[in-house]
Amino acid sequence: MPLEPEQLQEAAKRHLWMHFTRMGTYAKQDVPVIVKGDGPWVWDSTGKRYLDGLSGLFTVQVGHGRRELAEAAARQASELAYFPVWGYAHPGAIELAERLSELAPGDINRVFFTSGGSEAVDSAWKLARQYFKAVGQPKRIKAISRQIAYHGASMGALSITGVEAIKKPFEPLVPGTSRVPNTDFYRAPVHGDDLVAFGRWAADQIAVRIEAEGPDTVAAVFLEPVQNAGGCLTPPPGYFERVREICDHYGVLLVSDEIICAFGRLGHWFGADRYGYQPDMITVAKGMTSGYSPMGALLASDRLIEPFLKGTALFAHGLTFGGHPVSSAVALANLAIFEDEKLLGHVRSNEEAFRSSLRSLDDLPIVGDLRGDGYFYGIELVKDKATRETFNDEESERLLRGFLSPALFEAGLVCRSDDRGDPVVQFAPPLICEQEHFDIIVDILRDVLGRAASLI
Ligand SMILES: Cc1ncc(COP(=O)(O)O)c(C=O)c1O
Repeated sequence: MPLEPEQLQEAAKRHLWMHFTRMGTYAKQDVPVIVKGDGPWVWDSTGKRYLDGLSGLFTVQVGHGRRELAEAAARQASELAYFPVWGYAHPGAIELAERLSELAPGDINRVFFTSGGSEAVDSAWKLARQYFKAVGQPKRIKAISRQIAYHGASMGALSITGVEAIKKPFEPLVPGTSRVPNTDFYRAPVHGDDLVAFGRWAADQIAVRIEAEGPDTVAAVFLEPVQNAGGCLTPPPGYFERVREICDHYGVLLVSDEIICAFGRLGHWFGADRYGYQPDMITVAKGMTSGYSPMGALLASDRLIEPFLKGTALFAHGLTFGGHPVSSAVALANLAIFEDEKLLGHVRSNEEAFRSSLRSLDDLPIVGDLRGDGYFYGIELVKDKATRETFNDEESERLLRGFLSPALFEAGLVCRSDDRGDPVVQFAPPLICEQEHFDIIVDILRDVLGRAASLI
């Protein structure tokens, strides 16, 4: 028997440990319990409907309630629910690896499956380290990433992450990581009036960092195509071209962390396609299955597997659920929906409408900057629009957690209010969304952000 709403509340409060969640919040209020989804909509246990403006967690690309994905999972579970890819293979993992290799740019033709995104990032760092040992450059162990970038919660991925507040409780972390500036042009410390010059400067900071670390000690640079944390920080024109040059110059691997950006979020299979660069590795998860079953992967270029194809060599790394048959079947069915429904083209032809809908909020005094691409946008909130003055910690706490998050949810919109960098609200709706959904997002924002401004 399913639990009644009150029983669910009681059990959630007593037993469930929610992720990145201040559990104390729920001493005095109910845990939001989502019970059902259909298209871009979800419903809570009281029957209230919400527009899912975040695709769950940047994940449900094809929308909720897709029977074909549920059926693909059921079919596979009846046929072969589980078998590992350790010394064996099964058709789903093989077919999906081939499919991803066809879709991935250039010579990225190898797929190492994981259960999620953090494991994909860990796998990339481990592969970089073992690869360099195998090719006679054993000192190359370090990873460089950008300030405020989130790359995952496991100890390796957290070490690469640039969000200090979530690293501190777990220090000391894995040694050998360092940070470079991100591409927040709105807060550019230099070249604030010249986007291209700013992008060149930001990319060049990677070279400066590599020099400071010792060029023969750096293994990889981890960058998202559009950096999520900090509020959808897009790359300036020429940024990735310059990063690629720098990585080639120093013999450092470029890892494109596309755990959010791949699978249509930016209107392409991969963010690297959108911005025209060739990574050495790509990490993916989330949208690969649209969240109907958990799965991640590390996609690697041909040269990175070379040392592991000979003699007794092996990549000393593996995960029980990597390449899970049910997740593989779901991923294949999910990618088929992308093609049948031309979702990438849909995002490309609607992204400008989404952007200009959000831009219509520009008259609100609290709206500082709008940034993003595809179906992935952030609005930075400011205390003073003219001076771009931001909120102090106490104000940000009051604004985001005290008012915005609950008010937006109350108004029927799932989105993200985030202050890992400067305060932002973020949107990443399912890729099936259209103007009617953008209008709902904007109407709710106009009301809630309007009220927020009067609180400050
Ligand atoms: C860019 C990026 N990398 C890594 C991760 C970690 O993925 P997961 O939560 O699946 O471990 C995330 C999760 O949001 C992410 O956005």
